[in-house]
Amino acid sequence: MIYQLVYVSEYTGDSPESDLHDILAASRRFNPQHGITGLLLFVGGSFIQVLEGDDEAKVRALYERIALDPRHARLDVLLDYTLPKRLFPDWSMAWMPISETEFCALAHIQRCDFATLSQLDNNIVSNILLNFAEAKLDG
Ligand SMILES: Cc1cc2nc3c(=O)[nH]c(=O)nc-3n(C[C@H](O)[C@H](O)[C@H](O)COP(=O)(O)O)c2cc1C
Repeated sequence: MIYQLVYVSEYTGDSPESDLHDILAASRRFNPQHGITGLLLFVGGSFIQVLEGDDEAKVRALYERIALDPRHARLDVLLDYTLPKRLFPDWSMAWMPISETEFCALAHIQRCDFATLSQLDNNIVSNILLNFAEAKLDG
């Protein structure tokens, strides 16, 4: 089984482009060596990240380390469960550029601020992630 953890957090910096670049570079160095794959989104000043792996302890340990990163705060776990296979098997950390408007529409919400994102319904989050995973397979 694959353990998957999805959280939302609030970006605390003021240069998202360079921070995102550095975060993705660190992820692509570290994650493949630890059997971790996933997806990172940046929506309206919030991160949404999927971390998945076959070793739950390793996924949790990475999450604990990421939680200490000063580039974000107020981490809130949206999904924390096991599933039969990875959603993002080909990505040490996929990056999906998506606008606030697009994400709001997918999530059926009016505003994409942190408070709203952190209260997203589990089923909506799962459905959005499934869509992304399938879109990747098609591409
Ligand atoms: C939103 C967010 C997501 C992150 N995701 C990962 C990740 O998936 N893997 C990882 O190794 N580091 C990730 N990081 C970075 C870690 O917090 C930490 O800075 C990094 O692993 C340190 O790497 P270094 O020792 O190579 O500098 C993330 C940071 C943030 C803010």
